[in-house]
Amino acid sequence: MRPSVYIKDLREHVGKEVSLKGWLYHKRSSGKIKFLIMRDGTGYLQCVVFKGNVAPEIFELADKITQESSFEVKGAVREDKRAIGGYELDVTDLKLISLSQEYPITPKEHGIEFLIDHRHLWVRSKKQVAILKIRHRVVKAIRDFFDSHGFTLFDAPIITPNACEGTSTLFEMDYFDLGKAYLTQSGQLYAESGALALGKVYTFGPTFRAEKSKTRRHLTEFWMVEPEMAFYDLNDNMDLAEEFLEYIVQTVLEDRKEELKELERDTSKLEKVMRPFPRITYDEAVEILKKNGVDFKWGDDFGGADETIISEQFDRPVMVHRYPAEVKAFYMKRDPENPNLALAVDVLAPEGYGEIIGGSQREDDYDTLISRIKEHNLPQEFFEWYLDLRRYGSVPHSGFGLGLERTVSWICGLEHLREAIPFPRMIYRNTP
Ligand code: 4AD
Ligand code: MG
Repeated sequence: MRPSVYIKDLREHVGKEVSLKGWLYHKRSSGKIKFLIMRDGTGYLQCVVFKGNVAPEIFELADKITQESSFEVKGAVREDKRAIGGYELDVTDLKLISLSQEYPITPKEHGIEFLIDHRHLWVRSKKQVAILKIRHRVVKAIRDFFDSHGFTLFDAPIITPNACEGTSTLFEMDYFDLGKAYLTQSGQLYAESGALALGKVYTFGPTFRAEKSKTRRHLTEFWMVEPEMAFYDLNDNMDLAEEFLEYIVQTVLEDRKEELKELERDTSKLEKVMRPFPRITYDEAVEILKKNGVDFKWGDDFGGADETIISEQFDRPVMVHRYPAEVKAFYMKRDPENPNLALAVDVLAPEGYGEIIGGSQREDDYDTLISRIKEHNLPQEFFEWYLDLRRYGSVPHSGFGLGLERTVSWICGLEHLREAIPFPRMIYRNTP
């Protein structure tokens, strides 16, 4: 049943007769010749049906087969540098598997709403296939990086009673007799437990935020990878973040050339993503904004437009550290040299892609952490387990979270996060 040959492997079959299975991507004809472009998920292949070479019913089938019909094709593989993918098939036989009804996503232009309504079909298109392959490669680069740097994968739960990143973006549910529970905003608190057990860990999974803002950078369900390291301070954390980002970008550049080309990505911008990345303080970032005519109040958090201005000053990701503690999470350690500042770091991607990494050194002192929990009006009883990590062998430790879809959007050069995940979830959309 399964195909014996995939399009990506055709180079091993030049001059031979093979059989392939796939879908009709596109069709052209000129008199006695029909050109059927097959896609099989691994590539695209021009199948040439020449009237003189096949039985009349095969030629008729080549005429009536519709876009997205599934079919099997047999023929001889010929190398042709000009052809899509570099090979062509001289067809000898054709078998229909299922005739497609009139396909809604024709090569003409469609509005974005129409396309997302048909996301289950839209993922078949060339550009989307390229993005999804890059996403997969980013995921593999993330895993490879941590697996080869002494980290252990430590899965965090999805259902949790703990608010990690503020209480305004929680997805709430009734959890049997136990009261309220939430979809996790971040695996970090659990990763901290893992770091104290295993030294260096990472969590990697879906995270949820009931983001009320409709922006091109926010999803309500997104994937995040979160390394957490015992005995790392903020500087160690930044060293790791830049090595990690460089590795991801350079690996994808090396390994997904075809896909980046399909997306018409200007890769010269990505080639510059090499260590060292600039490191500036929040104060220095505020200076940049002021110099660029932004009326910015010290103490505020940066908005998307501010991040763009800051990142435009640099040709590689910029690390902004030491934010006002007021705008950051309860678990961040204060700077011993200035307790108004948190030992936080955000990494802003170039080209206006905004914050892709958020991280910090964690508060490791028991009493200070309790006061922070109280200041943030968090229910202490649900944080007792987290406080145990400071009761029993607390150590300085740090970590960060990288948003997968923001990273993929940046690498692919996308306008909006919604194309960086197979089925995007946003405030105004939870289908298909
Ligand atoms: O800065 P954030 O909120 O940090 C945390 O969640 C920490 N607990 C991470 C840690 O230290 N372990 O989120 C981290 C990253 C952001 O930089 C961004 O890339 C992504 O997660 N992110 C989102 N991506 C898509 N849609 C959203 N609504 C996102 N919110 C955050
Ligand atoms: Mg953040």
